[in-house]
Amino acid sequence: MNLRTFNALGKRGVLGINCRNSEYIMRSNPRSAFPLVDNKVLTKRLADKFDIPVPPVYHLIEHHGDIHKLEAKIAGKPDFVVKPARGAGGKGIILVADRQADNFVTPGGTILSKADLDFHISDILSGIYSLSGLDDTAIIEALLHPAPVFAQVTYAGVPDIRVVVYRGVPMMSMVRLPTRASDGKANLHRGAIAAGIEITSGKTLTAVYHSAVITHHPDTGNPVGNIQVPYWERMLLIAASAFDMTGLGYIGVDMVIDSERGPVLLELNARPGLAIQIANLDGLRRRLDLIEAAPAAIFATAETRVSWAMQTFGASRQ
Ligand SMILES: Nc1ncnc2c1ncn2[C@@H]1O[C@H](COP(=O)(O)OP(=O)(O)O)[C@@H](O)[C@H]1O
Ligand SMILES: [Mg+2]
Repeated sequence: MNLRTFNALGKRGVLGINCRNSEYIMRSNPRSAFPLVDNKVLTKRLADKFDIPVPPVYHLIEHHGDIHKLEAKIAGKPDFVVKPARGAGGKGIILVADRQADNFVTPGGTILSKADLDFHISDILSGIYSLSGLDDTAIIEALLHPAPVFAQVTYAGVPDIRVVVYRGVPMMSMVRLPTRASDGKANLHRGAIAAGIEITSGKTLTAVYHSAVITHHPDTGNPVGNIQVPYWERMLLIAASAFDMTGLGYIGVDMVIDSERGPVLLELNARPGLAIQIANLDGLRRRLDLIEAAPAAIFATAETRVSWAMQTFGASRQ
């Protein structure tokens, strides 16, 4: 966050990292629930139980000796994703968007040989990308094909939508849009941009790029604001039910809108970042306070929480 943005937001109750950690994450998130979200295999199993769509798994690789089985599992599949079960921040994820003869092509046009891919999977199993540094599992899953809604403001990749949820109430949202620099991934420190999404309407606001507020996509030049996100209420419901799934009181819920499947849950995050505040030009603090002061009845179900949020969290710049 650059200083000027931070100062401009100061009056709006921007939440800082220490406060987020001590007051909200530690108080709201039981440690026992962390493994459920820190391991994407466990998150997928949990989501299945709650009928929440996730990217279909083609194969899980747990042992170095099993890497050779990959070829058969992806036979006939033109595209797929390789990711560490315990990774974060886009590290160790390879999106394979195309195959050329025996090679694999990423959305940014990087070409990988079969040996490159095997080597990468071997790195994943060794835990190089794992949050804990311990051995890890490689997930081979379907590549989602984003619905066209963000096509004008995405450079070759897969945008994801994050909703931050407090006590089961969707509180703030953003869409992360890949750029040339982020190689198809939507992680902000990889150079993706983030546009706020108004909870009330599901329409995008301005965006942030490397801590600066922007109104147009750096590669495509198209305006990022005022885009209506489809399936908005359904996405808020998925986000709200992530609280029921995990018991985590403070959680970031990441989804992709797939062109055939609609909203798909990508991952859950027990320590969501704070850049979402810049993307919305609004602080989290006021919204957290509103939720804490809300009448008990609004917490009854995911539906009541979503409906209250949609009435409460309107235009951030009022
Ligand atoms: N199955 C998938 N299909 C398409 N894109 C994906 C898929 N999985 C991940 N991505 C892209 O990679 C990014 C990072 O993936 P994610 O699962 O969120 O892992 P991380 O925990 O490392 O952020 C996503 O934001 C998305 O842009
Ligand atoms: Mg992610």
